[in-house]
Amino acid sequence: MGSYFVPWFFHKLLATLLTILNETLDCLMITLQKLCNFKTRSVPMRSDHMLPCPFVSGRRLLAQDLVLNADTTRVSSAAGPIAELREDEDEAYFSSYGHYSIHEEMLKDKVRTESYRDFIYLNQDVFKDKVVLDVGCGTGILSMFAARAGARKVIGVDQSEIVYQAMDIVRLNNLEDTITLIKGRIEEVNLPVDKVDIIISEWMGYFLLFESMLDSVIYSRDMYLAEGGSVYPDRCNISLAAVGDAQKHQDRIAFWDDVYGFKMTCMKKAVVPEAVVEVLKPETLISEPSVIQTIDCNTARLSDLEFTADFSLKITQSTQCTAIVGYFDISFDGGCGNKVVFSTGPRCTKTHWKQTVFLLEEPVAVQSGQDLPGRVTVRKNRKDPRSLLVTFDLAERKLTYSLQ
Ligand SMILES: C[S@@+](CC[C@H](N)C(=O)[O-])C[C@H]1O[C@@H](n2cnc3c(N)ncnc32)[C@H](O)[C@@H]1O
Repeated sequence: MGSYFVPWFFHKLLATLLTILNETLDCLMITLQKLCNFKTRSVPMRSDHMLPCPFVSGRRLLAQDLVLNADTTRVSSAAGPIAELREDEDEAYFSSYGHYSIHEEMLKDKVRTESYRDFIYLNQDVFKDKVVLDVGCGTGILSMFAARAGARKVIGVDQSEIVYQAMDIVRLNNLEDTITLIKGRIEEVNLPVDKVDIIISEWMGYFLLFESMLDSVIYSRDMYLAEGGSVYPDRCNISLAAVGDAQKHQDRIAFWDDVYGFKMTCMKKAVVPEAVVEVLKPETLISEPSVIQTIDCNTARLSDLEFTADFSLKITQSTQCTAIVGYFDISFDGGCGNKVVFSTGPRCTKTHWKQTVFLLEEPVAVQSGQDLPGRVTVRKNRKDPRSLLVTFDLAERKLTYSLQ
């Protein structure tokens, strides 16, 4: 044992030092990113008005190596990584929702807001005399729809400062006798009731699961929903489709092959792994869509929000596949006479979620009629559980993308 001890000890010491260095670097980078986000309050989680931040871009380049090769198997408790976040770790997230602009963008997204409104107003029998919990009430719009639809009591909870505006808004509309607003994280507040009949929430992020807010809705359901109660929206699908857009591939990827006569091909390693949130031209779709995950908010467990799925894309054009696009559909369905559905897909009216595009570094030649098989894994980034890592096994290549 003695002869093994010295190398073993140095190996262990080196491994420990490397782990500490890695975690310190990561903490430093996350802190810098939060400082940047915090300073530029106009960087909401869902806005594309992203201001370039030198610390953030620096972090991303370094982080790509650390994150994409990192051990992402750290186990979190049953409450899940979002419930476990400390206040300071989630401060940037909630401060991004403190500014009015992100709420203006969401309220002006008619597909989104009118779907909630139509579902609530067209199903007043579901809401009549019920106790409703609005998880992440923002400006209070969903709480007010529910109150107008006849709910007996509505409780809106939000940790962001926007809730103070919501309090004024509720008073401006004389709904304070029905709606009670609470500032705090749903995982930490004390509600004035033990159980609620209905939970409503607009929790969806890019590619559905970005932001990991569904974790908080699941927490609320398990904690507060009465037997026989319902969560709305209830059914959600995530879909993928193949994209052929040689022009965009040239602009984003091939561009780096020759920049004013210089090779910058190494830049592709930084560009490719960042999923892009943008509105896709429907004419660039070259396959039928394939649903990779269905989530029922009344029954989903946290483990359903990280998954691996095999898919097969039925190709509709002989061309080069340059990217995979992801999007989601939402249904207000169970127990209501008037169902409401909306889609964030490229063939539908655009929403503020746009679509999420995963560019392929090397285009793949495809033939009309063929099935393009693949496997996708979606998981939270353990080092920042509000962001996602999406891995594709496609055409004998493995590619991991970050959504952050
Ligand atoms: C997408 S916005 C929706 C706002 C509003 N319901 C609407 O539809 O316009 C989500 C809101 O949920 C809040 N939120 C997210 N997670 C939360 C949590 N765990 N506890 C309390 N509020 C939360 C955010 O601060 C944000 O204001």
